[in-house]
Amino acid sequence: PHVLHVTGARPNFPKAAPVIRALDGLGVRQVLVHTGQHYDPVMSEVFFQQLGLPEPDVNLGVGSGSHGAQTAAVMVALEEMFVADRPSLVIVYGDVNSTVAAALVAAKLQIPLAHVEAGLRSFDRTMPEEVNRVVTDALADLLFTTSPDANVHLGTEGVAADKIHFVGNPMIDTLLANLDTFDPVAVTADLGLEGDYVVATLHRPGNVDDPEQAAKIVRAVHEVADTVRVVIPLHPRGRESFARAGLMDHENVTVIEPLGYVEFIGLVRGSRAVVTDSGGVQEETTMLGVPCLTLRPNTERPVTITHGTNRLVTSDGLAGAVQEALALPRTDTPAVTPPLWDGAAGQRIAAVVADVVGA
Ligand code: UD1
Ligand code: UDP
Repeated sequence: PHVLHVTGARPNFPKAAPVIRALDGLGVRQVLVHTGQHYDPVMSEVFFQQLGLPEPDVNLGVGSGSHGAQTAAVMVALEEMFVADRPSLVIVYGDVNSTVAAALVAAKLQIPLAHVEAGLRSFDRTMPEEVNRVVTDALADLLFTTSPDANVHLGTEGVAADKIHFVGNPMIDTLLANLDTFDPVAVTADLGLEGDYVVATLHRPGNVDDPEQAAKIVRAVHEVADTVRVVIPLHPRGRESFARAGLMDHENVTVIEPLGYVEFIGLVRGSRAVVTDSGGVQEETTMLGVPCLTLRPNTERPVTITHGTNRLVTSDGLAGAVQEALALPRTDTPAVTPPLWDGAAGQRIAAVVADVVGA
């Protein structure tokens, strides 16, 4: 008997790491699959090195493609694998295409399925991630949630209470476990940065792919850059569209390659504010006490607003919101943090999993 983890995209890796470690501690036999959805070394390999993840047992090498092509490629490869050597439980993470693909395959083969980070809802079906979340949760047998709102959503959708486990946030386990390694001084020295700066990360299709929206965002970022340096470790998705919209045409905008996890959190830790459309970054800034301005009309992580530093902004409101953030005193520790974001989520998940698979 073995438990099989399916990972594939950047946000999966910091979520899986603590679960794998905790299951190791309980002596559970594990197989780690990397679908290959993300493949650039800075989007994948660097996380395996920095987070102490084991080398994947298999890399499916699916790469990029349309939603249909990418999801289908993961499904075909996983189905073959699961039929040849049936896992006792499949564990999937977050809301990427690799997540929903694995969920569909496990469900059709009647293999028990666990979803880590279940129940988050933006209620915005224009986001591909929202579709992936709803489908994955509908199919899962074990649903591990990171915040109480997720339990409420799952209850409303008719998921039986005994399938749902509120365990806290494994991504925050990773943050807390590596806290000593995040060194803003080292990162800013490496990048040749001096003085105050704001970090921005942008990769949502809604912000990146539509040229008009991309141009609006570039104007807003330039407005911010009129008063403070903006450092942007740019996701490959945005490379072309933001270049076309002139993102780099401002002396206070520094666009760099995606950073490794340790360097990225180091950069965030030393920043005065973060502008983002990322899911994980809303959570990480909350724990670091760094003001977070989320450039989206909604968030599936409302706990970062009620218990953290997060705020939703429009491109029109961005520059003003950054000014307000710059006026805040610097803090290194947040006043409140969301319940159970305490570094032990991986252990809670492992305890339930070990019980279910009889290890
Ligand atoms: C995916 C997830 C998104 C998540 C994000 C995290 C889906 C539907 N989306 O979006 O939820 O927030 O990852 O980073 O699963 N590319 C590269 N190198 C890579 C990977 C991608 O150049 O290693 C480029 C390719 O041009 C590719 C594009 O980025 O077409 C998009 O990649 P894809 O995996 O489809 O979606 P993301 O935008 O990365
Ligand atoms: N991240 C990173 N380097 C970067 C940008 C992000 O290491 O240049 C980390 C970030 O801290 C988070 C993870 O990547 O832990 C996933 O974030 P991403 O924004 O890619 O995905 P999302 O959470 O939006 O799905």
